[in-house]
Amino acid sequence: MLQDQQGREFRYLRLSVTDICNFRCNYCLPDGNQDCHSLESHLSLEEISSLVATFARLGTQKIRITGGEPSIRRDLTDIIRICKQTPGIQSVALTTNGYKLPKFVQSWVDAGLDRLNISVDSLDPRMFQSITGHDRLEEILQGIDLALQSGLEKVKINSVLMREYNLGEFSQLVHWVKNKSVTLRFIELMQTGDNEKFFRRNHVSGEELKQFLLQDNWIPVARSKTAGPAIEYMHPDFAGRIGLIMPYSKDFCKSCNRLRVSSQGKLHLCLFGEEGFSLRHWCRPEAQELLQQKIYEFVTLKKDSHFLHAGKTGATRHLAMLGG
Ligand code: 5AD
Ligand code: SF4
Repeated sequence: MLQDQQGREFRYLRLSVTDICNFRCNYCLPDGNQDCHSLESHLSLEEISSLVATFARLGTQKIRITGGEPSIRRDLTDIIRICKQTPGIQSVALTTNGYKLPKFVQSWVDAGLDRLNISVDSLDPRMFQSITGHDRLEEILQGIDLALQSGLEKVKINSVLMREYNLGEFSQLVHWVKNKSVTLRFIELMQTGDNEKFFRRNHVSGEELKQFLLQDNWIPVARSKTAGPAIEYMHPDFAGRIGLIMPYSKDFCKSCNRLRVSSQGKLHLCLFGEEGFSLRHWCRPEAQELLQQKIYEFVTLKKDSHFLHAGKTGATRHLAMLGG
């Protein structure tokens, strides 16, 4: 079992399969992808297969495929299938901006996808465009409805609220889950190397949102020991749930249960750590023992917490590098 020096166990791997994204979210890639790696340089299917098999032998049970935007890769369906067929992997999840959902969601589910997270920062097409640089809201909403009918175990929506943009949509977004069986999670805007000024103007504390929810009779749901970082709320009149992800809250890192691997095969111990440790050299079937040893070694170096409160964002210029 993979464990760090604080006793945190890692059964969950976030695997970024590309750092390329076709959206230009104002908090992430306002100028588009300028310094991403080429598609040819990303981990190959064979490398992914070795990597996932080794993590699974070390106790990883859940893989989340992230980007950039994972559906930029034509072989995403194969990646899902490989992860799902790896002995030991119980759950395969995907995080996407949703623009290819209508076309592909069913083939992803058929390949073994269990869970899906989709980013929707606004329900107003003009606001959506001003945040993401794309006018695809309509297709994404259709895609979400298809996803809900496709047999997935869970569908979640991620929203980042920003003071100067979509904060006024908070109530409308909450109301949206009245008749939809999804969990809508508000992720606090995080500072990265590239968005410092934007962050200072737009960060909204999750505490502020929590107070609104409590006033509106939302009830916190008890968290299981293996739950991720979101605190979830339910309401008797709503089919869906609301979640808050508050990376700036006290003790956020105590329950950290995740490791990350970039599309170049680097192991990142924290979203806001320094340069990752390359595993790529050992992502071959004949090097699995060595890969296992290296992962063990690197994980012991994981720090207690991020240093975001001190404004230190590590080497992370934007989250498209690592998929959040
Ligand atoms: N702060 C908070 N959330 C972010 N995401 C991307 N960049 C940031 C940031 N700086 C979110 C995306 C997506 C998820 C993977 O991470 O909106 O939903
Ligand atoms: Fe937006 Fe995600 Fe793409 Fe960043 S990686 S621009 S948050 S869709």
